[in-house]
This record gives sequence, C-alpha cells and structure tokens, in this order.
Amino acid sequence: MKVITTNNDLQRILFQMRSAGKTIGLVPTMGALHNGHLSLLAIAKTTTDIVVSTIFVNPTQFNDPADLEKYPRPIESDIEKLTQAGCDMLFAPSVKEMYGSNETWRLDIGRLETILEGKFRPGHYQGVTQIVYKLFDMVKPDTAFFGQKDYQQFLVISKMVQLLHVPVKLIMCPIIRDSGGLAMSSRNVHLTENEKKQALVISQALMLVKQQFAFQTVDQLKTLATSIINKEPDVTLEYFEIADRETLEPAGRDSVKIVALVAAKVGHTRLIDNIILA
Ligand code: PAJ
Repeated sequence: MKVITTNNDLQRILFQMRSAGKTIGLVPTMGALHNGHLSLLAIAKTTTDIVVSTIFVNPTQFNDPADLEKYPRPIESDIEKLTQAGCDMLFAPSVKEMYGSNETWRLDIGRLETILEGKFRPGHYQGVTQIVYKLFDMVKPDTAFFGQKDYQQFLVISKMVQLLHVPVKLIMCPIIRDSGGLAMSSRNVHLTENEKKQALVISQALMLVKQQFAFQTVDQLKTLATSIINKEPDVTLEYFEIADRETLEPAGRDSVKIVALVAAKVGHTRLIDNIILA
C-alpha cells in the first residue's frame, strides 16, 4: 500500500492511475480503524479499481477541544490494518497540508445543520463538509463510501454534493456491530468494561423499537426506548428520535421512509446509533 502525506504526491500518483483508465473509490476516515471502517473498504474494493482511504483527524469538526485532544491516533496499526485489507493508497496528511491560515467555510445545508447531531454539536457539520469537500476536490473519486452509522452525516454530505455539483457517487454502507450489538466506533476504546455493558441498551432499544414498529405509535415507541435507556445509571440520553429518512424531521402520519436515531453519553463518551424502520 502506498502511504502518501502530501497533496503533490497524491496528484502525481492519481494522475498515473487515471491515465491508465482506473476508477477511483474513496473511503475517508479519522483513523483508529475498526471493522466498521474496514467494511467500507471491502465494499469499495468490489466497486472501483483503486481504493484510496484517508486518515485525518479533522480539527474543524470537533466542537469539544477535549474530544479532539483525546481522539485515538494509532497510525502504525492503522497502516497495518489497511495493508491487510488490500487498500491501494492511504492519504494521511498533516493539518498544515489540509488547511491554510485564515480559511473560512460556510455552506447552507438548511435544517440538517441544527437538528439532532447538529443541535448537540454546533459547527460540526460545517467542519465535516469543509474537509470532505477538500478530499473530494483532491482525490476526485468516482465513488465515495460512508457508513450508515453516521446517518445524518451521509445526508449532509449528499446535500453538499448536490449544492456544489460535485461529480461523485455516494454509497451508504451498513452499520457493523460487535457481538453484543454495540455499533463499532473509534470512541469505544474510551469505554470501561462496565460502561461497555451499559452501552448495550442503546442498540437494544433500537432493536426493540424495530420489532415493535408495526404495533405501536411513534410516541409510544419513543417512550419505550427512552425508558429502557434511562434505566442504566451511567447512560445519559441526548436524543431518541423517530424521523423521516430524508429530512430527519420527526416522523408523522404521512412518513413512509423512517429511521430511528439515538445519541447518548456513556460516562464521558458520546455514542450515536440508528436503525432503519421503514
Ligand atoms: P470516522 O468516524 O473515522 O468514520 C469514517 C467512516 O466510517 C464514516 O463514513 C463512518 O460512518 C464509517 N463508520 C464508522 N463506524 C462504522 C460502523 N460501525 N459501521 C459502518 N461504518 C462505520 O466519519 C468520519 O470519520 C469523519 O466525519 C469523516 C467523514 C472522515 C470526515 O472527517
């Protein structure tokens, strides 16, 4: 696997690939790779000739400096995992390589910016669109792969692609969970054994809501999920919403495509998860 840290090298190698007629897939990550990330890579490998993954802990999308500071950065083992998984190229730039000084970025992504994740993480999606736009611009992938795990992020990136006419196809890949049902996340390494056990209520609540979806109203389902999650003393629910899959506005009588989304703090670690209901 080629490991590249500068835009110059990236352009040189991508030029060779494109001249040889290869299609390019992009899997952007912030590293601390787990099987969720690697599943994106596996799907990418079946879709495009060349797979470029990126590792960049993007400072502009962290609204909490402590979260940025303690974000895990195991680059050596990440390189090992990507090599094993058959990734063709890793682009792992420095902050200086990605950002000039005094850069500003503002994209009107509408309500998606301020609801659910946007409400609890002000500015987060401006940072996400800023970095993903730069990565799209540098790599110019035919196809880019993102996880359903960050459902709202996928909608935000889709909106950006539409607004800025970026010629890329986006693919949403399923959520990978550990054996207990907990959605894999780079932040799970911060959980103690006890917190890991308590965190299971998050996916359990989602599964139960899916099971009961045909039999109960949206309000009943939200009450059910909330009461399950609130039973664990170290889990603090931020939101549990049952929403329209395209707008993420609360699901109403007319909603056809529906998703349940949840965010909760387990100890000091913030986790998100979701499940498609209809
Ligand atoms: P990161 O949290 O590292 O996630 C990188 C990609 O992996 C995202 O598309 C995310 O949805 C996906 N992913 C994470 N956990 C997953 C799981 N359990 N199952 C399936 N896919 C999973 O998301 C980001 O980084 C950043 O915001 C980024 C898009 C790279 C921009 O900085």
